[in-house]
Amino acid sequence: MKNIIITGATSGIGRELAIQYAAKGNKVGLIGRRTKRLEELKAEIGELAYIRTLDVTDHERAEVVYLELIDEMGGMDMMVLNAGIGRIQMLPPWGAESKLIEVNALAFAHGCHFAFDYFRENGGGQIVGMSSMASLLAHHRATAYTASKHFISNYMTGYRQKAKRVDANIVITEVRAGYIWTEMTENARGMFWVAPVEKAVQQMVKGIDRKKNCIYATKRWRLMAWVAKCVPEWVWNRI
Ligand SMILES: NC(=O)c1ccc[n+]([C@@H]2O[C@H](COP(=O)([O-])OP(=O)(O)OC[C@H]3O[C@@H](n4cnc5c(N)ncnc54)[C@H](OP(=O)(O)O)[C@@H]3O)[C@@H](O)[C@H]2O)c1
Repeated sequence: MKNIIITGATSGIGRELAIQYAAKGNKVGLIGRRTKRLEELKAEIGELAYIRTLDVTDHERAEVVYLELIDEMGGMDMMVLNAGIGRIQMLPPWGAESKLIEVNALAFAHGCHFAFDYFRENGGGQIVGMSSMASLLAHHRATAYTASKHFISNYMTGYRQKAKRVDANIVITEVRAGYIWTEMTENARGMFWVAPVEKAVQQMVKGIDRKKNCIYATKRWRLMAWVAKCVPEWVWNRI
């Protein structure tokens, strides 16, 4: 049985990860801003769920909340950094763009740094980061989003190297998710290979439990990653 903290657990992928991990007998510490959603999820999961309302961009409070949860759960074996926002807009105002970067990149990095320090001091653990196929590309209508996911992927690669260099028993797992039906994608257009969240999360859980470095969810997106690497930039610039 593991103790797992999941950020962004009030909907979509994070919520489903909480349900599937708790169904396997793991304790889950659940974080999000919407308290009512957290309470409903706690009622659904039962005593294996521990909840805290938190905006992950409030780093000072986040450290207090993470430590409180860890204390309540009796330790932490895995931290899933999943909280994120998406925005598709050709000319977003700076406020929206900076907010996205603050949540997807800065708060992600803060969570990763916190978990790394905790695991280094407490015998090891696993950090899971919710990146995206978007990390592999730039897109004029989702510029901050694709860049934020590229940041996550690159940051995790560096932390994997760091864990080896400082001889820390820390597994760093990056999830490159393709399109999945969630609140984030409910109004999006032009999607393909869209997976139900249950199926995508089942595949994530399998890969996470195997301590993989990188997981494609669903699996077929590995093919698209290969295509993304082969297609020259001038072709992408026309899409
Ligand atoms: N769905 C896809 O196709 C897809 C594909 C690739 C990657 N992803 C990534 O998967 C992750 C989860 O997305 P999703 O599709 O499950 O979307 P979602 O249903 O909209 O879930 C997003 C989660 O992030 C939380 N969150 C957002 N801002 C937060 C903040 N400041 N503090 C704390 N929690 C915050 C939300 O909780 P509150 O609003 O309650 O705070 C919610 O629980 C994201 O990182 C997303 O980029 C999704």
